[in-house]
Amino acid sequence: MAKKILIANWKNYPGSLAEAQTLVKELAKSNSLYKKLLFSIAAPLVYLPLITEKARKFSVVGVQNLSLLEKGTRTGSLTPEILKSFGVKLVILGHSERRAMGESSPEVSEKVKIALKAGFTPVVCFGELVRDTEGEYFEFLREELKHSLAGLAKADLKKIILAYEPIWAIGKSAKESIKIEDLEETLIFTKKILTLIFGRNSADEVKILYGGSVEPANAPELSQVKGVSGFLVGHSSLKAKNLEAIAKSLINK
Ligand code: PGA
Repeated sequence: MAKKILIANWKNYPGSLAEAQTLVKELAKSNSLYKKLLFSIAAPLVYLPLITEKARKFSVVGVQNLSLLEKGTRTGSLTPEILKSFGVKLVILGHSERRAMGESSPEVSEKVKIALKAGFTPVVCFGELVRDTEGEYFEFLREELKHSLAGLAKADLKKIILAYEPIWAIGKSAKESIKIEDLEETLIFTKKILTLIFGRNSADEVKILYGGSVEPANAPELSQVKGVSGFLVGHSSLKAKNLEAIAKSLINK
């Protein structure tokens, strides 16, 4: 059975290098647990040397964005080659917090192509702002997926990971996170959209993560949902004990 996936999205935390060092030390104590998963830490870029040196043995080196690079010199941007030289292998793309800063779905699809060309695994985020009672969010998800994955070949689908992250559930608590039946419904809908765009066989190969207030309290239940290949975890990934509990919920029994 394929390993379950756990991605720690550190966002713009921990607040200092010293705190990041402490967190890595704590995580390293459970390295044998993390090795049972496809585990990745997507840290702020300045912490890359720390992750590369101290966490690479038990985690895949990840980042949280890519620059949209055209030819030429671009002050303040990083090339995939620079990231590769730090061992980067995975990149979160289209996170709602970046979309809120103006990133569009067409830009996300360009970045997905840049990532694939560089040999990175793109983790493409999608999710609705509100879950209305009329079901309009379905239309939103369909459009967001279609445009964020535009131009990909069928064969690319097995090289990417999708992360369903309803925006209303991000940064809250387990109690306010998604209900099991709502997650099931969205995953079925997502597979249907992917089938319409890429065909059944390719759609069946896509791995889909859930993200949005995954905590030790709801991880066991969420991990049982059919079609969930793992989690993208924000605030709970900053506490070693919490992340360890979440990792345990994903270990194949
Ligand atoms: P959260 O964040 O776990 O704090 O809700 C998830 C994310 O934004 O990726």
